[in-house]
Amino acid sequence: MDNKKVVTIVYGCQMSERDAETLTQITRDFGYSPSDDLESADLVIVNTCCVRESAENKILGKIGELKKLKERNPKVKIAISGCMVQQPGALERLQKRAPHVDIWEGTHNINDFSALLQRVEQGEKVAEVWQEPNATIEVASLAEKGKLQASVNVMYGCDNFCSYCIVPYVRGRERSRKPQEILQEIELLVNSGCREVTLLGQNVNSYGKEFSPAYDFADLLHQVNQIAFLLRVRFITSHPKDLSDKLIETVAEGDKLCEHFHLPIQSGSNFILERMNRKYTREYYLRRIEQIRKLIPDASLSTDIIVGFPGESEEDFEQTLAMMNQAHYSQAFTFMYSKRSGTLASKMENQIPLDVKKRRLQKLMSVQNQESLEYRQNMIGKTVEVLAEGPSKTNPERLTGRTRGNELVVFNGNLDIIGSLVNVRINEAGSWTLIGEIE
Ligand code: 5AD
Ligand code: SF4
Repeated sequence: MDNKKVVTIVYGCQMSERDAETLTQITRDFGYSPSDDLESADLVIVNTCCVRESAENKILGKIGELKKLKERNPKVKIAISGCMVQQPGALERLQKRAPHVDIWEGTHNINDFSALLQRVEQGEKVAEVWQEPNATIEVASLAEKGKLQASVNVMYGCDNFCSYCIVPYVRGRERSRKPQEILQEIELLVNSGCREVTLLGQNVNSYGKEFSPAYDFADLLHQVNQIAFLLRVRFITSHPKDLSDKLIETVAEGDKLCEHFHLPIQSGSNFILERMNRKYTREYYLRRIEQIRKLIPDASLSTDIIVGFPGESEEDFEQTLAMMNQAHYSQAFTFMYSKRSGTLASKMENQIPLDVKKRRLQKLMSVQNQESLEYRQNMIGKTVEVLAEGPSKTNPERLTGRTRGNELVVFNGNLDIIGSLVNVRINEAGSWTLIGEIE
């Protein structure tokens, strides 16, 4: 019975990764241990994403490959979970396309995976997608222990309904976890060796908006900052419209709170921002980052940008390009707009042709690569604090870690410093990596 192997494949954002971790943890109770060898797997879990069509196509390809795996090894069980399955009407379509799958499960019932797996172990096939999340289920006890870095959910769902985005439809309305539960979970993680936590939410800075008496994300950060033996705290994602002065001040003051803001702008054009329902203007956004840089001169900013949103003209796109030169992002995640059925933007006129989207994406990426390079080159000669995370994948003789601003650094050092903060002098810089030496 024991010694079964589970392979977990994840697509999408950090929430999806965190959910996949929970699913993998649940399989332990059934005697599974994690592996990456598909051929010898007894169970394969694919936690899916549906934020763009390209992700869905990749996943459909993977599900097709798993059909062949099952033909070679009929005993392997296949579970498909997450956002793609949660989309309204998706389950039936997927089931027809992939009858070889044993478990279908949406995002709202991931904590119910244990019950589903039990039925499958008894020879059933199961498909369950809850329409609403069960607010009372908590996953704190399931956080994976013993790792240097961990992600902790602080809130679920999103209320913003940006017009392009499927997330509110597959992750439901915003729900914040109670501060006590979050703090306890982090303490447990720290007791098991964790030194860096990333607080996760679709929109972390609207954390606690339903709480009375008032308690917001800055209050939570303030308390997390006091946890002994924890070295660093990160958080993603912040919505520009909810970025309060209080939050910036809290980050400026908290010694463990990393000075990195992931602040998706999505577009530099006010016309497009309005059509996206982002609820801010480029001027407002620029004032927010001015405030960040005033209080935290070394703060690092990253962003998400969509090109080719319906109705985006060359002038709108130029404004996005201009934004890159004004904001000086350390990193930008750039995407071509992808039509998601059920969203407002999918019904908008003036959808942009693929070749135009491709051209704009290429241009945007080359502008940002240059910005990222300059950003990193400015760090040459400086000494920065790095959390030593482990051997470098490309050069196992050296170590890797991240700066407080979330920039990747490769540097010399012995394995015994893994898990501690070290001062590294930066000697070289590329668009993605810094190279340095311990001082
Ligand atoms: N098309 C392209 N990109 C999208 N994103 C969200 N929805 C879409 C879509 N329909 C991007 C946004 C978001 C990031 C996680 O994914 O930039 O911030
Ligand atoms: Fe999607 Fe907008 Fe919510 Fe982010 S804030 S998850 S882009 S709806």
